Amino acid sequence: MKQHPETTAITAGRPDVAPDAALNPPVVLTATFHAGGEIGYGRYGNQTWSALEEAIGALEGGPTLIFSSGMAAISAVFSILPVGAPIVASNQGYSGVMTLLNSFHESGRLEVRFVDIVNTQSVIDAMKGAALVWLESPTNPGLDVADLVTLIAAAKKLGIGVGVDNTFATPLVQTPLAMGADIVMHSVTKFLSGHSDVLMGSLSTNDSALFNRLKDSRSFNGSIPGPFETWLALRGLRTFPLRFNKSQENAKALVEKLGGHPKISRVRYPGFGAIISFEVDGTGEQAQKVCESSTLIAHATSLGGVESLWERRRRWPMESLSVPEQLIRLSVGCEHIDDIWDDIDRALAAI
Ligand SMILES: Cc1ncc(COP(=O)(O)O)c(C=O)c1O
Repeated sequence: MKQHPETTAITAGRPDVAPDAALNPPVVLTATFHAGGEIGYGRYGNQTWSALEEAIGALEGGPTLIFSSGMAAISAVFSILPVGAPIVASNQGYSGVMTLLNSFHESGRLEVRFVDIVNTQSVIDAMKGAALVWLESPTNPGLDVADLVTLIAAAKKLGIGVGVDNTFATPLVQTPLAMGADIVMHSVTKFLSGHSDVLMGSLSTNDSALFNRLKDSRSFNGSIPGPFETWLALRGLRTFPLRFNKSQENAKALVEKLGGHPKISRVRYPGFGAIISFEVDGTGEQAQKVCESSTLIAHATSLGGVESLWERRRRWPMESLSVPEQLIRLSVGCEHIDDIWDDIDRALAAI
């Protein structure tokens, strides 16, 4: 019987069982290793990294590399593409990735064909001759969902590589490698580690040649995580399914309540996950005031932690102008649903 992810998150990446062996992997705080082994040096590998890589790999279904942040993981993918390579990517998504892609496009480092990922045919039309299709689904903060099965199949037919940013959906909702994607990426900072105390990223792939190129990119760009942060992320990962399921349950209940609130004009929710984007029926200033009026929900950026967070995304100058001024992105945590709702209701009463 195939093990359930709830079990895998708890069991994967443990040391071998032996009398007096530790149940948890140790934090291997060393830059230097004695000669003659497989690791060689602290920028090439670390036993604590291997434990987390084994656990994320077991959840996503492919050998995994961890990086110093989600952006470092994405950058490793782009770094192995030839100069000027055409790629297909969403015309909206996480602002850090959009900023990077725009700068690559402007400098000629890559030729980025920006597409509307909801329009499946337009994405397929843009694929011809591309080196890579990069899909963030759902998108941050628009929560648009790509038809991954159709898009991955179309790209494979054309022999084009596909990478999926699975940060919002997580392997509890979708496993893109099983759909045929070449790479699945995470901002481990978010749901996988889950406590807003670690920045980390990951890439998983079943293509061993690609794995080696990505590993070389990590080794020689030096985008490596610290062993202690890695250990914290693995500790957080043990409860990832519990946390995600609770946050998702809370989010589903909140979507109904938000939809019926007179001061909210639009609620975006893909039907799964723990992120909700909603628009206040008013101005950007009013939405900002709502965010600043909460007492339980932290007014902060990021997402995927046990604590609920929200922010008005357009407070960031780098956020896309296609994101409405009055849009608030809410990352639903694991608090009691009534307490979260009371806080939202009170904050909305401030405008
Ligand atoms: C969808 C998505 N991808 C990538 C990133 C970048 O991850 P990190 O902040 O860990 O570098 C983020 C960060 O918010 C994100 O939301």
